Amino acid sequence: VTDRPIRILGIPGSLRQHSYNRGLIRAAQDVAPEGVEVELYLLHDIPFFNGDVEDIGDPDAVVRFKEAIREADGLLIATPQYNRSIPGVLKNAIDWASRPPRGSALDGKPTAVFGASPGATGTARAQSQLRQAFVFTSTPRCPPRNPGLPRRREVRRNRPPHAREDAGVRREASDGAGGVDAEAGGWLAANRERHDSGVERRGAAP
Ligand SMILES: Cc1cc2nc3c(=O)[nH]c(=O)nc-3n(C[C@H](O)[C@H](O)[C@H](O)COP(=O)(O)O)c2cc1C
Repeated sequence: VTDRPIRILGIPGSLRQHSYNRGLIRAAQDVAPEGVEVELYLLHDIPFFNGDVEDIGDPDAVVRFKEAIREADGLLIATPQYNRSIPGVLKNAIDWASRPPRGSALDGKPTAVFGASPGATGTARAQSQLRQAFVFTSTPRCPPRNPGLPRRREVRRNRPPHAREDAGVRREASDGAGGVDAEAGGWLAANRERHDSGVERRGAAP
């Protein structure tokens, strides 16, 4: 057991400047308990996956992304839902990070998934598909929760400008995220101990 903070890499699956899912990661930063640091990681620089490019060598943005994942104790992914599925931007980043298939940066990395979208079922389907991908990458998933995150139209009731809209999302998301905070914190701490002790460090190079 170490005294260093638990480091969480927070990844929004949207490139939009006023993304609700980026807001969720910021909300997680706001409600992170003492001893937990959440770093916001944006996916703007990640190119489309291309096996020919990979054969030559990972592009710098991909190298940085994989390093950030390896250095983190866990991942927190906020996904929008696009056409009942995962946004391509997020899936593409996960595809890069999943390589090489054995011993990838995602292998054994504790990961929690949540998200915000305006539809009636929120991001349930996108989250489910993400968890499915993480089965293949041997990425331990935090048990699913339903924190009751806000639907966009509730935030838009008064047609606020972006600044107020962002603030509203962050406030309401904080309320929702706070509900799962204690349980998720305990789960991460337990996983970090296993990770640090090597018990779950699967696929590591000999
Ligand atoms: C191509 C596309 C498909 C979408 N499909 C869905 C959907 O299936 N369900 C849903 O609730 N919202 C859907 N939306 C709405 C997004 O979830 C919404 O725009 C959300 O705010 C995007 O996340 P962001 O705010 O983090 O950028 C879709 C949006 C786009 C652009």
